[in-house]
Amino acid sequence: MITKQQMIQTLLPKPALPVKEQATAFSPANIALIKYWGKRDNELNLPVTSSLSMSLAHGTHTTVKVASADSCLLNGKECPPAFAKRLFDYCNLFRNKDTFFEIHTTNEIPTAAGFASSSSGFSALILALDDLFGWHADLKTLSILARLGSGSACRSLFSGFVEWHKGTRPDGLDSFAEPLNTSWPELQIEMLPISSSQKPIDSRSAMKITVETSPLYSSWPQTVANDLPRIKEAINSQNFHQLGQIAESNALAMHATMLASHPPILYFLPESIATMHHIWRLRNEGLPLYFTMDAGPNLKLLYLKKDSTLVHEALGL
Ligand code: PMV
Repeated sequence: MITKQQMIQTLLPKPALPVKEQATAFSPANIALIKYWGKRDNELNLPVTSSLSMSLAHGTHTTVKVASADSCLLNGKECPPAFAKRLFDYCNLFRNKDTFFEIHTTNEIPTAAGFASSSSGFSALILALDDLFGWHADLKTLSILARLGSGSACRSLFSGFVEWHKGTRPDGLDSFAEPLNTSWPELQIEMLPISSSQKPIDSRSAMKITVETSPLYSSWPQTVANDLPRIKEAINSQNFHQLGQIAESNALAMHATMLASHPPILYFLPESIATMHHIWRLRNEGLPLYFTMDAGPNLKLLYLKKDSTLVHEALGL
């Protein structure tokens, strides 16, 4: 097995000493339309399938300062210990043992409630580290490095539609994200908050349980293999119904694999389900509205800009 450190050695210059006192970066959060669910390598965060996302306007701002001891502020308050540990374990991959950081990270969206804040968090962190250490690494390299913090973070280096190529190499050097050369300004993705409380199980553990125990997981790679080319076709031809239908059913298929695992994993709350029924009813009545969902109870709405007022009125937003 190849370790993270071995992989990093092939990508970055040594020694890794900061070239400035502090660095700040921003990355957008991203929402997957074709989900990443399941790793083929837990150490290197290598996915079983490719995935495709859309970056949001909002995300995470992170400042890393060289300090005499490690400390971390999340949205102006002391970081929860588990979160700080995750960040500093990640920083340890790049710094020597005598380098300490004060990290200030501000999320424009709630952390750990399925709002994809880890995606923008690790992406902003690797961009700040790149600047602090003066690596001047290219975006492909930074995408690979962000992936080591959180899989979906490799897609947050880019705006617009982004595809994460799963890659096949055991060292993970061909598993990175790239933007698609298409823009679709009419397409809207909007958070529909149901609950911002901490989710019952983090996505990393939930993926592992699903891969190891769900009898439905074996169908997941084929689901993605069918959905990915079709959603790219929908994006290229700006076919909203095709995009919405594929994104919604891909998300539900992902949740179905989790439901069949032992112990079962169910992120939906009763309000999530009530909202899905409401959306399906509105769609049957002619409103072009779809949703996607990640590892949390919240829904993300998909609709076209021209229908924005109708969607907001129908959902009381
Ligand atoms: O990157 P992670 O480990 O937070 O996993 C993300 C998993 C999903 O959000 C459910 C899907 C995805 O592709 O973003």
